[in-house]
Amino acid sequence: VAELRAASEKVLQTRPHLALQYGPQQGYGPLIDYLRQRIAQEEGLSLSRANFTLTAGCADAIDRVCCQWLQPGDVVIVEAPSYFETLMIFQDHGAVPVSVPVDEGGLMVEVLEKRLVALDRAGRRPRLLYTIPSFQNPTGVTLAADRRPELIRLAREYGFFIVEDDVYRDLSYEGQVPASLLALDQQAGGGNVFRIGSFSKILAPGLRLGWLIGPPCLIKDIYESGVRCTGGGANPFICHTVSELCLSGFLDSHIENLRHLYRERRDIMLKALEVHLPSQVEWTRPAGGFFIWLQLPRQLTSQAVCAAADAAGVTVLPGDQFYADNDDHHHIRLAFSYLTVEEIKQGVAALGRVMHELLRHESVQ
Ligand SMILES: Cc1ncc(COP(=O)(O)O)c(C=O)c1O
Repeated sequence: VAELRAASEKVLQTRPHLALQYGPQQGYGPLIDYLRQRIAQEEGLSLSRANFTLTAGCADAIDRVCCQWLQPGDVVIVEAPSYFETLMIFQDHGAVPVSVPVDEGGLMVEVLEKRLVALDRAGRRPRLLYTIPSFQNPTGVTLAADRRPELIRLAREYGFFIVEDDVYRDLSYEGQVPASLLALDQQAGGGNVFRIGSFSKILAPGLRLGWLIGPPCLIKDIYESGVRCTGGGANPFICHTVSELCLSGFLDSHIENLRHLYRERRDIMLKALEVHLPSQVEWTRPAGGFFIWLQLPRQLTSQAVCAAADAAGVTVLPGDQFYADNDDHHHIRLAFSYLTVEEIKQGVAALGRVMHELLRHESVQ
């Protein structure tokens, strides 16, 4: 809060006439340049301003891509499970979701190929494929390095765009994340990947600020849309303020602090799960991000566990809503990002009590 206050005061003192006006449609140039340099440093990617547009967060970026690229009835490939709010955006645009399962190595690219062949035989090709390759929401898994080039190959062969939602990329707790799909696409000649980033997970979601990277001609179509023409670029005042924070070096040190904080919370939650959960429950061990995905035994449904947990004062999300076209009733998503270490310990202990109780009840019946 103090850093944001200082940054916004500086903006208001030094350039109020710019920051409080409609902004350029593409977004504030110095902030785009900062993002370009950061990506060049971290991934060795050489991108120009023309590859970028700033957006009101990731959700807005996805909506913009859909406005530009989707017609009602178009097929969109989604991960099963996937982030449910993006599934809602695809629904807004009348897309037909086709699910491909995720395992511990992320999107199952072999299954994807089979789906593509089947779609092709039916005379259909997907328009987009939406993936969250790093520390996925809701499972926490990361797309394996050896699956990534295969995914790029399929996008080129079947002519669809990959929408790479990489909002958790910076929140790695165990070293390097594999090369991004954007980087691999560029090596393969480019043109098949939209990559999305956001300040939501590394600064604050209330800022509503993110970025979309893609082929210049497609990016131009997006920021020359009617909504950007009438409204100017996304959130100009916030762009100026965030730009101050980034250029002062604050963002990098803040991300480093977040990594320490969240790594500790993840470790505490994983340890508490070992101690308190029934042996029949399994879960993922994310190397970054916010989430752990529980698989319940057959006797327990997510609805029953979530309702009982809620009554015990613990909020967890049933897995059901993370599937576009699949009735799954045996998964639960836990988030370790928001809670204190003490709350995590108490919450997992209560969740464990609830599960043991439900299992006892089941076995008596
Ligand atoms: C995978 C994923 N994408 C996007 C978002 C939302 O991003 P934004 O706030 O930038 O719209 C979230 C938030 O939970 C998320 O988990």
